[in-house]
Amino acid sequence: MKHFLDLSMISKSDLQNILSEAKRRKLKQSKLGKVIISEQSHAKDKLLLMVFEKPSTRTRLSFDIAMRQLGGGTIVMNSNDMHLGKGNESVEDTAKVISSFSDIVMFRTFKHQTLLDLSKLLTVPLINGLTNLSHPCQLLSDVMTFEEKKGSIKGAKVAWVGDGNNVANSAVEAAVQFEFNLNICVPKKHLPSKKVLDWAENNNGKIDIFHDPKKGIKGVDCIMSDKWVSMGDKGDTKKKKKSLRSFQINDKLMTFAKKDAIYLHVLPAAREEEVTSSVIDGKQSLVWVQAENRLHGQKAIIDWCLSN
Ligand code: CP
Ligand code: NVA
Repeated sequence: MKHFLDLSMISKSDLQNILSEAKRRKLKQSKLGKVIISEQSHAKDKLLLMVFEKPSTRTRLSFDIAMRQLGGGTIVMNSNDMHLGKGNESVEDTAKVISSFSDIVMFRTFKHQTLLDLSKLLTVPLINGLTNLSHPCQLLSDVMTFEEKKGSIKGAKVAWVGDGNNVANSAVEAAVQFEFNLNICVPKKHLPSKKVLDWAENNNGKIDIFHDPKKGIKGVDCIMSDKWVSMGDKGDTKKKKKSLRSFQINDKLMTFAKKDAIYLHVLPAAREEEVTSSVIDGKQSLVWVQAENRLHGQKAIIDWCLSN
């Protein structure tokens, strides 16, 4: 059984295959309607259950439409409507029921550990739809968006700018697995996970850390960013935003990157905080293509999970 939990847990060759499949399916689907089944897939007549502990627009839409286009069906549940987590039912018992009703599960959860626990209990594949520690599906669409515009990401220079959050952790893992150079530009207090950085170092990752965004962005091919405050972030958000002020992606900061650098954002964005409208709506921004690519990425991930 194949779970899609983190990029570090999947082989480089499988990740390359998933990426190629996402690109191939995008080319095929572009000529079809939104709910037309594109072609054969391992998801035909299968059911995807999605469980959300936090809000979502892109992940929910893209997984739902992906499953329909693959010939399967979906059920979406919000954790508020479930017994799990309220002391009414254990993870073990919930996992048994979920396994019997569905063929594949996507889970967006607060605690990464809950995802890992569930993966050991389910008898069907599990996909990480975002946790406090990672967001691997997002990075797949980001790498895809980069490659559509600029060719292979291998050896390219990318900067992550802002908070060293869950998506930053997945960016570090992506840098190792897809072999690109990653400049992490974050305040000292908001580094990515030490465990993930150590893993990258032990796996020949080319990761450099900068606390001056101008230096970190210098000469890069791509700038990636995200909100400064993530869902479920605890602590003094005012203080955090203040420490991130000089990391705002604006027209001036963009001039330090290569002239033809692309700009990506996980979305949703807090305009005029981490990015100005002039940049997110500007010529270098590919954020809407990046969001659409979630659909094609999800299809390839689902198909990979359900194949033997
Ligand atoms: N980027 C992303 O995962 O967006 P949603 O929170 O809308 O799913
Ligand atoms: N880092 C953000 C990503 C949202 C898709 C969060 O976790 O809220």
